[in-house]
Amino acid sequence: MNVLLIGSGGREHALAWKLAQSPLLGKLFAAPGNPGIAEHAELVSVDPLDHRAVLDFCTRHSVELVVIGPEAPLVDGLADNLRTMGVLVFGPNKVPAQLEGSKGFTKDLCARHGIPTARYERASDKLAAEAVLADFGVPVVIKADGLAAGKGVIIAMTEEEAQAALDTMFEGGFGSAGSAVVIEEFMEGEEASFFALTDGETVVPFGSAQDHKRVGDGDTGPNTGGMGAYSPASILTSELEARVMEEIVKPTVRALAESGTPYSGILYAGLMLTAEGPKLIEYNVRFGDPECQVLMMRLEDDLLEIMLATARGKLAELPPPRFSKDAALTVVMAANGYPGTPEKGGRIGGFEAAAGKGAKVFHAGTASDGGTIIASGGRVLTVSARGRTVKEAAAIAYEAADAIDFPTGFYRKDIGWREIARGR
Ligand code: AMP
Ligand code: GLY
Repeated sequence: MNVLLIGSGGREHALAWKLAQSPLLGKLFAAPGNPGIAEHAELVSVDPLDHRAVLDFCTRHSVELVVIGPEAPLVDGLADNLRTMGVLVFGPNKVPAQLEGSKGFTKDLCARHGIPTARYERASDKLAAEAVLADFGVPVVIKADGLAAGKGVIIAMTEEEAQAALDTMFEGGFGSAGSAVVIEEFMEGEEASFFALTDGETVVPFGSAQDHKRVGDGDTGPNTGGMGAYSPASILTSELEARVMEEIVKPTVRALAESGTPYSGILYAGLMLTAEGPKLIEYNVRFGDPECQVLMMRLEDDLLEIMLATARGKLAELPPPRFSKDAALTVVMAANGYPGTPEKGGRIGGFEAAAGKGAKVFHAGTASDGGTIIASGGRVLTVSARGRTVKEAAAIAYEAADAIDFPTGFYRKDIGWREIARGR
């Protein structure tokens, strides 16, 4: 079977690597892909926002399944258009993708179905928002309603910070994403990510992870898309996972099915483990990046078979997905300047030396310049390894990262510190 993978990040490299191991795979195409993905797929230049072009490509190349990596094409309704034309898709349709596309959509759904999450109010003008603020007090969380590439969330510790956040949002600081805001109660606890696969009806757990959002060691500095991750998150015990499934994930999937807009694909729940139990921070309608890399390092089953069963609505016919008892950890190597303006064009070498340490290097923001790999984005590589413990996996990943020659890049030196401190 021929498959088209949409996306170009480390997440998609990990998916391509795993898909390429499937005996069911005919030819893998990737749009636009990256030099790492090119080891497993033919790169093609089809614009994912041009749905007609994607469809034409599928017809011409007998593509039966399209795997959509990032959120933007999902929120844009690419999956709907492909499904309508009889192409199988891994990823949700436009309406259920609103779980990520609109924070207000998710919060309203949680309220209707009693799903534990932070108390919230929506406001679509500044005056209303100020009234809500007065009611909530500080600390408080202010979020742009729409997609803002992970940057539309401000945690205000003081009233001045809260007021400044509202000023920024309503003056268009986050573009149209900030024309409406969600104001939330600040939740205290440790964060963890939980993944579930669903075809709209059957829901199965698909692993857990924790990431490091801040750019600097010791979780300092500005937020990023994620500087590293590991799986599993031992803090998410099997008892807590069962609660997350029953109290958060299953009610969400059921609610969407009941309103005639079933969710199909991977559902990524960002959780706060509070003193009162797990609460939903947010949903993503795709795999996390770099969380996907650590999940793929541990997945023991055929990813293509799993994605096909999901896309066909036949997840119930598969045994539950199996993950290695090993831990996996990934270290993101970013270009100097990230998360501001990353330096482009820096040369990268040492890939063989890194592989020799037993790690898998996934490409994220790279390009090929006459055969030399160069940096072309903020997060450039994700160096991933497995070990019996997080500590062991970290040791291998760091040996490999040290072996990479990337003078214009940097990486955090403390990925996994929470688990290592817990003796994992
Ligand atoms: P989000 O984009 O919704 O994941 O928010 C980004 C980050 O802000 C989360 O990973 C949390 O660290 C933090 N955050 C979001 N909402 C809350 C909340 N209600 N209470 C505390 N922290 C939050
Ligand atoms: N690493 C966080 C995300 O993919 O949303």
